[in-house]
Amino acid sequence: MSEPQIPSSRRSVLSGMRPTGKLHLGNYMGALANWVKLQDAYECYFFIADWHALTTDYANPSRIKLNTLDVALDFLAAGLDPERSTIFIQSHVPQHAELNLLLGMLTPLGWLERVPTYKEQQENLSGKDLTTYGFLGYPLLMSSDILLYQPEYVPVGADQTAHVELTREVARRFNSMYKTRVFPEPEALLTPTAKLTGTDGRKMSKSYGNTIGLTEAPSSIIAKVAAMSTGGQRIRQSDGGDAELCPVGDLHTVFGAPGQFAEIQQGCKAASIRCESCKAKATESLVAVIKPIYEKRMQMEANIEQTWEMLRAQSAKASRRAEQTMVEVREIFDLSHELGAVKRYFGASAEKLLNARDLSGNMDLLGAFQDEAERIKDFRDYWLESFVPRDIPLSESNLMFTTFERELEEPLITAKKKRVFVTAAIEVDEAWNFLIPAKSYEVWTLLGLGRNRWLEDFILPQKVFSQPFAQAKKSLKKDEKIPVVLRRDGDRFLLSIHGSEPVDVTELRSNYAPLQ
Ligand code: TRP
Repeated sequence: MSEPQIPSSRRSVLSGMRPTGKLHLGNYMGALANWVKLQDAYECYFFIADWHALTTDYANPSRIKLNTLDVALDFLAAGLDPERSTIFIQSHVPQHAELNLLLGMLTPLGWLERVPTYKEQQENLSGKDLTTYGFLGYPLLMSSDILLYQPEYVPVGADQTAHVELTREVARRFNSMYKTRVFPEPEALLTPTAKLTGTDGRKMSKSYGNTIGLTEAPSSIIAKVAAMSTGGQRIRQSDGGDAELCPVGDLHTVFGAPGQFAEIQQGCKAASIRCESCKAKATESLVAVIKPIYEKRMQMEANIEQTWEMLRAQSAKASRRAEQTMVEVREIFDLSHELGAVKRYFGASAEKLLNARDLSGNMDLLGAFQDEAERIKDFRDYWLESFVPRDIPLSESNLMFTTFERELEEPLITAKKKRVFVTAAIEVDEAWNFLIPAKSYEVWTLLGLGRNRWLEDFILPQKVFSQPFAQAKKSLKKDEKIPVVLRRDGDRFLLSIHGSEPVDVTELRSNYAPLQ
């Protein structure tokens, strides 16, 4: 494996396994052994997908916890290390379900129906009724498992790549729909698969009953290997064979010392080694690898409460990490748990409105030491919170990637998608001077702080400024802002745009109709 380019704290991997009971050598070589290695280079999250098990075993859930513990014990015995990785149980981290529900809102049905495993599994597991919502949603639950931890890589077998691809598509759709970068697109990290056949020569799989357990007692392993198929070769011991074609040969390749397979192959071809001794040697190599794993498991089994408590603590840790993502996600769906800005919609009495115009007690807004752009933004927030009526929903257009300067120019958006520019100025010699970017805003809001520290708010529809605005644009340089003057004339207010003939805008003071 290549060295990480960025410090490992920044690069993370996540993977999960369904709780199908004790692991066999195929699970170990195909996934777990690789996960153990990844711990050196990455921040790792490994979990037991007990909710996933229910998508197929919902009718018979009695062994979920037993199977979960069996998998967990094998994880730990094989070397997953809670000091270095977070090893947890999916259903103990409710954020997986929450994210699954929210992503479900934007995931097209067709994307799930087209995942190849959907139809395949329905056919393969024909004894179970898999025409359920939960089973259709399996890949999206997996996407949620992944995205919650924002990992860079997802180590999986080839059978899971379609699910990782779906995850990437869901992340992309979410990010573009909400103009965010909350979910980096994770990449599948394909486990280099060692060829490891079952005791009968077929692929090692629980459903074929041809497995050798990772933490099976050595005595039982000796018996299983002794009875193993040799791929129909060497019926007579004097016949030569080909270890490449023999399941026992695979054991030498995978578990033997370097060069061991070559030696066996030589003896097999020349019929100079008997199958019994070849098998004994394979058993010896295999047991050397898995005996420490077996023993560690036995120790942990003697103290199962401790393992369970550890899993609960690790799940709580995972949940804290998942919660960081969910805080961002809830914010996007307007579901944050803080009261926040909605408070402005409540208790806006006429008296309160009147008080809000009087800024004499508001040092923050009057503070002249602030940077001008900052101050205008403060005025904008103040206006939004104190003056805009609740039946006028204004949202900020996306501020997320804009620079400081653009943020001020970024319009607010009305329900009818009108763009509203808000700016503020302080009265000097009976007039307010504003500078407005030459951009296509449909409404200008001018906030004038008067001599008497009284806030005046003018909401100008496009027809008031469109002609002089067009004129001004012609004579100004690119990116130059348009000077706009609002002059006090007794109790009237006159507006002039880049020297245009003044127009009386008194009627537009505190008139919020242009925002409707
Ligand atoms: N579907 C995976 C399997 O059957 C298990 C799984 C569930 C998973 N959620 C995951 C794997 C998230 C990787 C990442 O093997």
